[in-house]
Amino acid sequence: NQPKMVVIGSLNMDLVVTADRMPRIGETIEGSNIHYIPGGKGANQAVGCARLGAEVTMIGSVGQDAFGQQILSQLTNYGIVTERIVQLEGIPTGTATILHTAQDNCIVIVPGANGKTTEASVTSNREVIQHADIMLVQLEIPMATVLEALRTARSHGVKTVLNPAPAKPLTDELLSLVDILTPNETEFEALSGKSYPSEEELLEGMKAWENKYRQTLIITRGEKGSSYIHNGELRTAAAPSVQVVDTTGAGDCFNAALAYSLAAGGTLNDAVTFAIRAASLSVTKFGAQEGMPTYEEVIRSSLTQS
Ligand code: RIB
Ligand code: NA
Repeated sequence: NQPKMVVIGSLNMDLVVTADRMPRIGETIEGSNIHYIPGGKGANQAVGCARLGAEVTMIGSVGQDAFGQQILSQLTNYGIVTERIVQLEGIPTGTATILHTAQDNCIVIVPGANGKTTEASVTSNREVIQHADIMLVQLEIPMATVLEALRTARSHGVKTVLNPAPAKPLTDELLSLVDILTPNETEFEALSGKSYPSEEELLEGMKAWENKYRQTLIITRGEKGSSYIHNGELRTAAAPSVQVVDTTGAGDCFNAALAYSLAAGGTLNDAVTFAIRAASLSVTKFGAQEGMPTYEEVIRSSLTQS
């Protein structure tokens, strides 16, 4: 049976500028390319879920401009229900200007319409949230909206995944409404206000966190893989090594695949393994949404890579 998923979050046009290296402060360098690619953590996660085969409704906002149109038609092509995405007048579609080199990327986000995805967009989509198997949310829309979405999901017993990216301080009230939290290492250190020099300390920190907020914590750790607690012990599922082309959207792919697998009834172990495989496939292609693998591709890669 096809999981029903709802994603509330950002939609951006990614302006991806490729250069040999990052410029220094005050310096001008020449880049080799610019690409206009639909992105935004919310939209990327919605595409990730749809590619895997879920029935996905996205809630969010774009402007009444060409970028907004392009994003909507791309999401429609992926089979996502876009009728809950509003096109706001007089405000630009969100953009992410991404400076991309072979080693790294730097991103400047201008929220535009994403900043106008208010609590009202949750209230008017209550029944969509209510009927979902799982809800995915990130931090590129206003915090009050994230809070309202989590409250709504909790009140209907709908499971939630919060990807706390980009890093922002979160209140205890908000955190207590989350079922599954997926920070990367830096985000977890910022959220907990501590650093974890050893695996033992990380495990203790994670246990304390899970007890406090009564939630499942999955920490993504780049090439090391992803860590979570299994039977009181720290488990780190390793990431298969791949030829990296573009890491933009890898975190989004991880979250999408994790939520998909959980919504389809997978265990935490299954879901993390599946998500890591999906995310490592996504970095082998250019663009945040382009590389999102299908379910078959993930399964096939697990047979060849294991
Ligand atoms: O997570 C990747 C995304 O972050 C990009 O698509 C960009 O839009 C930024 O929001
Ligand atoms: Na990619």
